[in-house]
Amino acid sequence: MAELMRAVQYDSYGGGAAGLKHVEVPVPTPGKDEVLLKLEATSLNPLDLRFQKGVARPFIPRKFPVIPGTDVAGEVVQVGPNVVKFKAGDKVVALLNTLIGGGLAEYAVAKESLTVPRPEEVSAAEGAGLPIAALTAHKALVDVAGLKLDGSGPRMNILVTAASGGVGHYAVQLAKLGNTHVTGTCGARNIDFVKSLGADDVLDYTTPEGAALKSPSGHKYDVVVHCARGISWSTFEPNLSDTGRVIDLTPGPSSMCTYVLKKLTFSKKQLLPLILIPKGDKELKLLVRLVKEGKLKTVFDSKHPLSKAQDAWAKSLDGHATGKIIVEI
Ligand SMILES: NC(=O)c1ccc[n+]([C@@H]2O[C@H](COP(=O)([O-])OP(=O)(O)OC[C@H]3O[C@@H](n4cnc5c(N)ncnc54)[C@H](OP(=O)(O)O)[C@@H]3O)[C@@H](O)[C@H]2O)c1
Repeated sequence: MAELMRAVQYDSYGGGAAGLKHVEVPVPTPGKDEVLLKLEATSLNPLDLRFQKGVARPFIPRKFPVIPGTDVAGEVVQVGPNVVKFKAGDKVVALLNTLIGGGLAEYAVAKESLTVPRPEEVSAAEGAGLPIAALTAHKALVDVAGLKLDGSGPRMNILVTAASGGVGHYAVQLAKLGNTHVTGTCGARNIDFVKSLGADDVLDYTTPEGAALKSPSGHKYDVVVHCARGISWSTFEPNLSDTGRVIDLTPGPSSMCTYVLKKLTFSKKQLLPLILIPKGDKELKLLVRLVKEGKLKTVFDSKHPLSKAQDAWAKSLDGHATGKIIVEI
């Protein structure tokens, strides 16, 4: 009989934290290109909750029940026959298949191609915070905006909205590794926190000046990493430099319309929707190395044992995380 493990799963759309159930299910078996991990920590992302709400129905989840959670750190306990980079006993960080999840459990399988070694200087919780949130911040800043993390690029003025959240707190730190002036938006309680991440200016989004996104230093933004929701193009537009770009991580129908309109009219100011589609391990390796070198940190909103995964879920649903919410296994 297959070995059993503890896991937390839901079996229908909706239900919030109360929809999560503690179960015992068989330990998964790694495929040819996969590693089996004994998990130590998993971080939650808003996407995990949105899938439960049914935003991608009927395509995601593919089937019920679902063990949610994709961003994990743990130890390799078994490898598939084609795996060459890992062996049992290796400590790793991995991004699980976003369509399937599996992170709120004692064991999970990860693709070798989305698994990276975790040096001893990087704790499991620090590593688990990285995959979706830090990869998205990296993608926006480096791949789309063209930021050079060694500071060798041209000077840029960058605005990060929701700078106190999971993605935003990495975005501020990564942006400051480049040659940038960074403004972050957050609520009043997080102003000192966002400054401590390196932001040069901080705007309280609950004030009229903050809601208008006007730079306290009089800068126009070359790049906006937009992690918040519900800010219209007409608010961004007057604050952008002549070739300013809003990289929208939370694109809805109106931002898609703006994207098309700006393209069709050859506007120099642009809105670019971004959805992370993880491909290889290069960027995740780099992010783990930056944490090891002390150039990037994962800040914890809270840590919860697997037995209290519902508390972590409710905290994330609340939408007021400061940094990352971690479930320790
Ligand atoms: N496109 C992609 O591939 C991709 C990838 C990852 C994430 N995302 C999306 O990006 C968004 C951010 O993700 P996350 O993980 O950073 O979320 P999160 O950690 O849950 O963000 C929570 C933080 O956002 C702040 N916040 C909320 N509304 C704000 C506003 N209008 N202005 C300033 N700050 C605000 C909150 O501050 P207060 O508590 O003070 O309100 C809180 O600190 C989510 O919508 C997520 O779905 C997209």
